[in-house]
Amino acid sequence: MTSRSLAGLICVLAACGPTDSDTDAASGPPATAITLREDIEPVRRVEDAMPGVFIPPYSDCRDGVCANVAISGCTELGKYFPDFASCEVVRTQRPFWPEPAASEPKSDDPRLSDLEFMSELAWMTEQVEASACTCCHDSRTNDGKTGQWDIQRGPIWLDTLSNNGLALFLGLADSSSLGAYASRDNFGFDRSATGIPTTDTVRMQTFLRRELMRRGVTEEQARAVPPFGGPIYTNRIAKPEDCRTKGMGVDLERGVQFGDAPARYVYVLADGSDNPGVPPNLDLPKGTLWRLDVLPSAAPVASGLRYGGTPTGSFQAFPEREDAPKLERGERYQLYALRDVGVPIANCYFTFGEPVVPAPAATGAPETAGFGTTCQSDANCTGTANYCARMPGQSSGTCTLSGCKEQPSICPGSYSCFDLSQFAAGLPSICTKP
Ligand code: HEC
Repeated sequence: MTSRSLAGLICVLAACGPTDSDTDAASGPPATAITLREDIEPVRRVEDAMPGVFIPPYSDCRDGVCANVAISGCTELGKYFPDFASCEVVRTQRPFWPEPAASEPKSDDPRLSDLEFMSELAWMTEQVEASACTCCHDSRTNDGKTGQWDIQRGPIWLDTLSNNGLALFLGLADSSSLGAYASRDNFGFDRSATGIPTTDTVRMQTFLRRELMRRGVTEEQARAVPPFGGPIYTNRIAKPEDCRTKGMGVDLERGVQFGDAPARYVYVLADGSDNPGVPPNLDLPKGTLWRLDVLPSAAPVASGLRYGGTPTGSFQAFPEREDAPKLERGERYQLYALRDVGVPIANCYFTFGEPVVPAPAATGAPETAGFGTTCQSDANCTGTANYCARMPGQSSGTCTLSGCKEQPSICPGSYSCFDLSQFAAGLPSICTKP
């Protein structure tokens, strides 16, 4: 560990910068200094982050090559991404579960003697090798586990990709919700026209279009594949609700109110802004007035923090240097808070100056929002739910809430508390249906 990152760690532990306990939840710029991005050391290692937390992209420099540690990141063409950046960090950025190949490549495939095809496939494989897609789609990494397609699964790995996946690769199915870099910031790799990053869009499209035809899939069918991103896509198009129905908003005395769940990202945006999405290009939409980030090494922040303040473990991601802009009384704003990247807990509009009154649901029985939905990992759970309860050996389960042994009141009315630690040490207690 370098002394600089050590300083960053100490900073997190000791809460660098003043705390905001001595000021009230005022609307205006904070009276005391705040923690900015330039004051903190970003988390670059999984062991420095809290378990299951998304580690935001950063630049990983090895032998003078600085790769973007992000799902949409790439290194220099000709280099192998896992040798030049941390795949372990990339894998914090989306839930992973192994998925079988869409179909098995055949050793007697006639294309094996088509030299032009084989050389284009080799070219394409080299393109993929420079991308972070290898972190989950190359069985040389991740203990051999891949999500459906695997560039090692020859002789023609392209067969392991589904038709829907091919539509994504070609850019006929929209995957923009998953984020992208400008090619100039990503070693010439573009992901805006094709879903798979490439330094030569036309060549990639030509190769993939031929594959689409060979499979007998029409362009129309490929275009009909719904946008990729699952909940990330749904969140992107969700309309903000009225904060008053949720007991949320920015209150003159009570600060930023975003409900019961703690947050890792909190935004105040101009009314009518796009919803914040994933880094690197969708997490700072036009109209962002203020954005607070919590370091992956620190605990998330609770509702009620001061607008413009930076509680322990957090920093102001926007504005980069100035104080948060003063909110105007009578103006309408959007409040957006996320439990973690991709998991919003607040998306509503409020009129500044109106007192924020707790919603009836918040004062009564605990909410069941997000309970019972199907999940593969905790990151899939939204609303009040934070824990993906899976039966042993199953890849999917249902969302519920953990920590009820410590806090029995958190389970909704008909639910009871079930202690999983009786089966294996370290497992939590969870709310279960009777
Ligand atoms: C952190 C792991 C991870 C990374 C990195 C990753 N993927 Fe995946 N991907 C998965 C998993 C798991 C699946 C299988 C489950 C699913 O469809 O979500 C998958 C499936 C897919 C599919 C098949 C979808 C379908 O419905 O048939 C495509 C296409 C795909 N990934 C493209 C990409 C591209 C392009 C990149 C790089 C820009 C990438 N993935 C990076 C984990 C990852």
